[in-house]
Amino acid sequence: MKYYLTTPLYYVNGAPHIGHAYSTIAADVIRRVKRMQGYDAVLTTGSDEHGQNVERAARAAGEEPAGFATRVANAFAAEWDALGLPYDRFIRTSSAKHHETVQWLFDRCMKNGFIYKSGYTGQYCFHCELYVNEAKPGDLCPDCKRPTETVTEENYFFKLSALQQRLLDLYESDPKFVQPESRRNEVMAFVREGLRDLSITRSSIKWGIPVPAEGHHVFYVWFDALIGYLSAVRGEQAGGEDLWPADLHLIGKEIVRFHAIFWPAFLMAADLPLPKRVFAHGWLLFEQDKMSKSRGNVVRPEPIRRVIGVDGLRYFLLREIVFGQDGSFSYDALVGRYNSELANGLGNLASRTLTMIHQYRGGAIPAAGESEISAVAAEAIRAAEAHYNEFEFSRGLESVWGLLSAVDKFIVHQAPWKLARSEDPAASGQLNNTLYTAAEALRVATVLLAPIIPESCAKIWTMLGMAEPLDAARFSTLAWGQLPAGQKIGETIALFPRLEQKETIAKMMALEVEVAAAQAQMLGRAVPPAAPPSEKIAIDDFAKVDLRVGLVLSAERVKGSDKLLHLKVDVAETQPRTILAGIAEAYTPEQMTGRKVVIVANLQPRKLRGIESNGMIVAASLEGGKPVLAGFLEDVPVGARLK
Ligand code: MSP
Repeated sequence: MKYYLTTPLYYVNGAPHIGHAYSTIAADVIRRVKRMQGYDAVLTTGSDEHGQNVERAARAAGEEPAGFATRVANAFAAEWDALGLPYDRFIRTSSAKHHETVQWLFDRCMKNGFIYKSGYTGQYCFHCELYVNEAKPGDLCPDCKRPTETVTEENYFFKLSALQQRLLDLYESDPKFVQPESRRNEVMAFVREGLRDLSITRSSIKWGIPVPAEGHHVFYVWFDALIGYLSAVRGEQAGGEDLWPADLHLIGKEIVRFHAIFWPAFLMAADLPLPKRVFAHGWLLFEQDKMSKSRGNVVRPEPIRRVIGVDGLRYFLLREIVFGQDGSFSYDALVGRYNSELANGLGNLASRTLTMIHQYRGGAIPAAGESEISAVAAEAIRAAEAHYNEFEFSRGLESVWGLLSAVDKFIVHQAPWKLARSEDPAASGQLNNTLYTAAEALRVATVLLAPIIPESCAKIWTMLGMAEPLDAARFSTLAWGQLPAGQKIGETIALFPRLEQKETIAKMMALEVEVAAAQAQMLGRAVPPAAPPSEKIAIDDFAKVDLRVGLVLSAERVKGSDKLLHLKVDVAETQPRTILAGIAEAYTPEQMTGRKVVIVANLQPRKLRGIESNGMIVAASLEGGKPVLAGFLEDVPVGARLK
């Protein structure tokens, strides 16, 4: 039987970060679980390459979008390889195969009467690549809070409104179609509100898939990207079955509407089978905020995999965060869990058990009778698989750790080191039982953990001397007592060396700066100033800085200086202030007049070129670049204080 699953197709306007890795790792875990259940599991990942954002990123790097997109798509593929995440298909939306499928699907929707042409004026968010319904000029995008822009186009429209009831019927009849439940409710509420037809082509954008017979139109990125899931496997089979429809689209929660509303609607209109399930996981938060390329608060997977290894990262992500909910990423928690659960827990059990078998039984698994742990193991097998089936990975792992801690207690209670020295004739049999129980529990745990920490499990498997490859293990046939007595075990290899907390975190953070610079270079960007985190200050220290909103009343160049502008700034005091700002290379006097700025109002006055400056304008200062003034998206009154 086939099982076809997908990750989102990642935008190529930035480099991979740990948020993307989270999705791909989870998809890899599911692929491995399905394979261990005997499915022909096929995973598609890939790159979403068209649209304004990618075009802008490419132009900013001084390149054509096609070359730029290829390089970034390769960087994503390389990251998945480095993380040990095998994908079966990597679909690029710029590929000929995909172009052809998009045009084919468009034709089918057209033939079925779901496409029409009409003029459209709306507020468009270039960041989210979406028209914002109901927005007026000047409104902000509700998702990213950036200003929308008014765009007028002659476009093709998709009759989404005609599919409202069919979509609602789908969610009603198949409660698993959108999961988790909270996302299903969100989607249903949205659809019940009523659906508007969707403009699916753009004449304002060049970098995209051309609309047949319309030279200057390209498809809207979502009409393009979602179809990638289909073009990756169109016409292909696995396990004697058509790969399409997908069994699972795994995505982050912010793109659930595209996947649970637009995508099935496009397929309904084209008369094609619908995916079985859309599962939206939560966000990985970093210091309480969503980690994202555009916010710059990014952690990359590379430093983590290089310092603590891929399995440490995989284990942390799946154990720490309830899959489907948001969760925090922190280096502290990452190293903490690694030490307590992997190094002290699993690693310690494996090395103790195998060392004792070498020491007391010449490296051969002893024969044994009944064990009190067999029932615990049977329950762990049942529970872990049931949780994995529901994508409850953290609970699945808890079940396995339940088994590990039961075995730990059992070993302490049996005290095999005492049994080995005992003269009692029963002691030898008891020692055999203890060692067999520990090794067999380790084998069972290894099979259950293989989808989550595959590299380490493969090592334990070799250490146990198993003849069959771990890949061939199946949950359905996993049961207590299958470890053959007499089997020779292998050398003991260190699995999870203990990490010194502070030193490890410092190493990862130092590498993070290096990797960020390499990624910026790969993206053709000026290497960002890797501003080291400043020393922490108390709130009272910050309160000493009087930051205020000012309005620039007039601006002129300072004679004899290329850098300085002489500004009069209204800060709602009796007199406007005179401020000299070193921004003349970035802003003209005309651009400054009438502009609202943020000033430091309580700086000591300072004389420059014979003029006394009473304050400082706040700007981002980029190493080797021009200053960028701080400002507000919403209107704010002059004189308002920032705190
Ligand atoms: N190109 C679209 C998807 C098109 S699918 C046909 C896109 N790309 S993206 O590069 O922005 O990737 C978004 C996905 O990356 C999220 O849905 C999620 O799977 C993952 N994540 C990105 N940042 C994340 C977090 N901070 N936390 C968790 N997942 C994150 O949207």
